[in-house]
Amino acid sequence: MNHHIKDIALSAKGKKRIEWAELDMPVLRQVKDNFSKKKPLKGVKIAACLHVTTETANLAITLKEGGADVTLCASNPLSTQDDVAASLVKDFKIPVFAIKGEDNKTYYSHLNATLDKKPNITMDDGADLVSVLHSERTNLIDGIIGSTEETTTGVIRLKSLAAAKLLKFPVIAVNDASTKHFFDNRYGTGQSTLDGMLRATNRLLAGSNFVVCGYGWCGKGVAMRARGMGSNVIVTEIDPLKALEAVMDGFRVMPIAEAASIGDFFCTVTGNLNVIRKEHFIKMRDGAIVANSGHFNVELDLVGLKAASKRVREAREFVEEYELKNGRKVCVLGEGRLVNLAAAEGHPASVMDMSFANQALGGDFLVKKGGTLSNMVYTVPEEIDKEIARLKLAALGVKIDTLTKEQKKYLASWEMGT
Ligand code: ADE
Repeated sequence: MNHHIKDIALSAKGKKRIEWAELDMPVLRQVKDNFSKKKPLKGVKIAACLHVTTETANLAITLKEGGADVTLCASNPLSTQDDVAASLVKDFKIPVFAIKGEDNKTYYSHLNATLDKKPNITMDDGADLVSVLHSERTNLIDGIIGSTEETTTGVIRLKSLAAAKLLKFPVIAVNDASTKHFFDNRYGTGQSTLDGMLRATNRLLAGSNFVVCGYGWCGKGVAMRARGMGSNVIVTEIDPLKALEAVMDGFRVMPIAEAASIGDFFCTVTGNLNVIRKEHFIKMRDGAIVANSGHFNVELDLVGLKAASKRVREAREFVEEYELKNGRKVCVLGEGRLVNLAAAEGHPASVMDMSFANQALGGDFLVKKGGTLSNMVYTVPEEIDKEIARLKLAALGVKIDTLTKEQKKYLASWEMGT
């Protein structure tokens, strides 16, 4: 089997970790059982460009169980878990093209290797496969039924492509499912971002000033969890509504230009570029810790930081210490790439369970709907989203009420008032 991974000898460790994640993915397990019986993806070639983690491994195994011919590459050069890649190749016969720390050229060669399989469905986390398909590999577009997209940044890119009338096949925005972004983006990013920042630095959060740039679902999660660990959280925003929400959630809100000189920790989660720039870095306290948990490594202006520095050294694994010309030091984690995947293991399995059930059922939906969909960005159908929530609640052992006949009628009526 054609593949490109770090070391096949890592497979035993990877297999155990994949099994450990599966224990906390009850919804995906049910999807896998159904797929195994019905084989809805029989003969479908899927190229998946996702973070190569234990959770993604369980998704890939589920898709294969559904009859798909799956090939996997990484959606970020630093997020691959090499032992997982090894186990997927050795134990599950799923070709993987991903090595943690790969350079940009290798990253794109890996994307192209998955596309060489002439996929019918692509699964993206950040829209890189769709982007390559629409620029360099347009000859493959005729064979594509559609694509699924995991993340906010990817959905924004795809909606831009659709708005420009350039999107050549339908896309399911998995990110926009309620069972995805309410949980994965908030609780997943919240926990895994702090996990990454703490694993990288082993610094104390209690009593620190923690600056969160961006108060979308991910920012809300990071702010909430940093507060839970005893930090004084400061939020920066450009959107008045989100800023107001942060204020009423009890956080201090101020421009990054002010927050820069106060923060001990900084984390960007905006989806935009150059959010923390040279003029901010030079104001920072000695030893400030700076990380990014947004999809792309564009949120920190590292070029500006380098220009303001006289020396850079690796202080610890995943910590680059920039010694500024003003004598202070600023520490950047994981090269400004997603800190939760670079320095930790990404979101826990329990939230990826719902995200990846959406991915698997999104793929199934694309196959079922075949050529009937238009070239636009679709949300996951509400029945699928609700069913995933129901299955998750059942797995958690939580029961809920149902509407009485009288309540249903009341909700459907307009006559009854004061
Ligand atoms: N994105 C964030 N966390 C992840 C994980 N554990 N697996 C795959 N993609 C992720």
